[in-house]
Amino acid sequence: MRRGKGPLLLQAMGRLPPKGGRTGTRWAEMGRVPISAHFRRMKSPQAYRGNEQTYVKHFFLERYLERVAYIILSNWPKFVYVDGFSGPWKSRDEQFKDTSFIIAIDKLREVKAALRQAGKAASPRCIFIEKNPESFAELQSVVSRIPDLDIAALQGEFRDLIPAIAGEIGRQFSFVFIDPTGWTGFDMHNLDPLLKLRGEVLINFMFDHINRFVEHPNPKTAEGFNSLFGHPNWYDLYTDHIDKGLSREDAIVAVYMDRLRQVGGFAHVTCTRIKKPLSERSYFYLIYATRHWKGILEFRKVEQRAADEQESVFGATRRLRKVAQTGQEDLFARADVSEPNLPFEQQRSLKQSLARSLLFSIIRENHEIAYESVLGKVLEIPLVSVQDLNGWLAELRKAGAIEIVGLVGRERVPKPGHVVRSLRTQDNIAE
Ligand SMILES: C[S@@+](CC[C@H](N)C(=O)[O-])C[C@H]1O[C@@H](n2cnc3c(N)ncnc32)[C@H](O)[C@@H]1O
Repeated sequence: MRRGKGPLLLQAMGRLPPKGGRTGTRWAEMGRVPISAHFRRMKSPQAYRGNEQTYVKHFFLERYLERVAYIILSNWPKFVYVDGFSGPWKSRDEQFKDTSFIIAIDKLREVKAALRQAGKAASPRCIFIEKNPESFAELQSVVSRIPDLDIAALQGEFRDLIPAIAGEIGRQFSFVFIDPTGWTGFDMHNLDPLLKLRGEVLINFMFDHINRFVEHPNPKTAEGFNSLFGHPNWYDLYTDHIDKGLSREDAIVAVYMDRLRQVGGFAHVTCTRIKKPLSERSYFYLIYATRHWKGILEFRKVEQRAADEQESVFGATRRLRKVAQTGQEDLFARADVSEPNLPFEQQRSLKQSLARSLLFSIIRENHEIAYESVLGKVLEIPLVSVQDLNGWLAELRKAGAIEIVGLVGRERVPKPGHVVRSLRTQDNIAE
């Protein structure tokens, strides 16, 4: 650990009490905060050649961390960011700018500086955990040279350090990033104390690895997933989802999301899919859990940008690969740049029809429901935007199926605080 024995260790040794904090989140009161254009961005996609999926993961992390840190630190002085598998790992940059820990440090320093300029005393804190001794030495050497951010670097197994970290965070708002290389080292029962904190978690669910073993004939292999899912009958939960019509892929992810929701008591859990750069297959999912609808809204906004970035970077990767294989530039492929990627667009429209059906069933089941509750539920479905939701609500209003209580004057667009009231009998709200 940097700077001698910090509070984490002292607390683990029982010498410091957990820190207190205010209760209850105030996401709802937090307006948009400006993102300064001068903020430095992470490395370009070219720096990630061959690892474009990591570029998209970092793109997502950088943007979401900026939003959550800015929003929380605008309202509270403290915010703790935890990276449980921090690396550096496979870095090609001498300043480690292609790693999650430097991306987070840069971002939190920027947010802190911007808020200080606005007269707010923001104190973000980072806790980085790395098991590998060589990687840890690199991590420690870099963070020890950063004077203006409170950083604790811990060497060890993430799961062993979780109780001390959770005790250190106490009632402060935290954002925990879990980015393993496989599916071990973050058993659900070990994660428990972190999942019960006030904050949010983002987990890299290594679908591609997990999927290869889910149907493995050796029962011991399947048993290995008991710890990941934190349930002895995870396979039954998985087949239940398949029986209800989900694909194998969606079912695996759904079981993990259900378990996170249950164990952490989260109001909202969702995910975004990161593909393999050269195919339409899934590589991994970033699974996100939050206690507030505003978190879901921000997550989806970042997803919109990240999904476009993914399509554009992976499209360029495929073209480069083609040029490398054939020695020729594919002139027609160039024209594809602005064309929608069919599988992606198909996926988006599939998700949107699911979201629309969910909205109709919410309205059928609730005579009156807060707009933000509808938003939180509907935007749990990937690739759905608030504009999509408002469009469907506008259709329903026009058809006389609902009214939005709280709209005033010429206001047309619903907002938090408004109520969606159904005007017809349940059977009449047809899709
Ligand atoms: C996928 S890499 C992390 C990459 C990093 N988050 C990034 O995006 O730049 C996983 C890292 O976790 C470390 N690691 C593996 N198992 C671990 C464990 N049980 N506890 C802590 N660190 C672990 C590995 O040494 C490796 O550096």
